[in-house]
Amino acid sequence: MRLLFFAGSARKGSHNKKLARLGQHIAEANGIEAVFVDLADFYMPIYHGDLEEAEGVPERARAFKALLDEYDGVMIVTPEYNASVPALLKNTLDWVSRVKAEEDVFKTRVFAISGASPGYYGAMRSLLQLREILSVGLGATVIPQQMALPRAMQAFEEDGSLKDDNQQKMFADVVEALAVATRKFAA
Ligand SMILES: Cc1cc2nc3c(=O)[nH]c(=O)nc-3n(C[C@H](O)[C@H](O)[C@H](O)COP(=O)(O)O)c2cc1C
Repeated sequence: MRLLFFAGSARKGSHNKKLARLGQHIAEANGIEAVFVDLADFYMPIYHGDLEEAEGVPERARAFKALLDEYDGVMIVTPEYNASVPALLKNTLDWVSRVKAEEDVFKTRVFAISGASPGYYGAMRSLLQLREILSVGLGATVIPQQMALPRAMQAFEEDGSLKDDNQQKMFADVVEALAVATRKFAA
């Protein structure tokens, strides 16, 4: 079983990338093959129907879809922008959903979501919407367990783990739940 972790932020110092990388490390520490990918390496223009008609789907959308296809389970760790999902993440999902392929990468694997924010709600409102986009919009299976990490600026140790033991355990439980659900789904 292989798990993919990515964040809905391309920013160098992104708290959400830190959390996604922590998820990857937790999975690896538990003997699970896991990879972190950076959406900065898959930058795409904003979806535009005329652009799609003229030039087709961007190569990076095809590449990202092919990457998703290689993994059995996926964790998306997202920031919250104005109480919603960042355009970067929605745009990526929108373009990937336009790639015509026999395999529907959303319906054929398991997803988990989490988020981090400097604020008090830990990207919770973004998570509610991402859950709906994935499950209602894309037909994906999204596990119920999730982590909303508040006060993200103060939350991490230098080594990328979470300072608060309860938060570290809570996030490790989400990663484990993704692994368990992915194993069941693939069986
Ligand atoms: C346009 C914009 C809107 C934002 N809106 C929210 C918000 O609604 N709720 C929130 O908790 N943080 C909000 N923030 C702050 C982000 O949570 C913060 O910039 C966070 O660090 C972004 O995630 P990252 O560290 O992974 O890049 C907003 C930031 C931007 C740039």
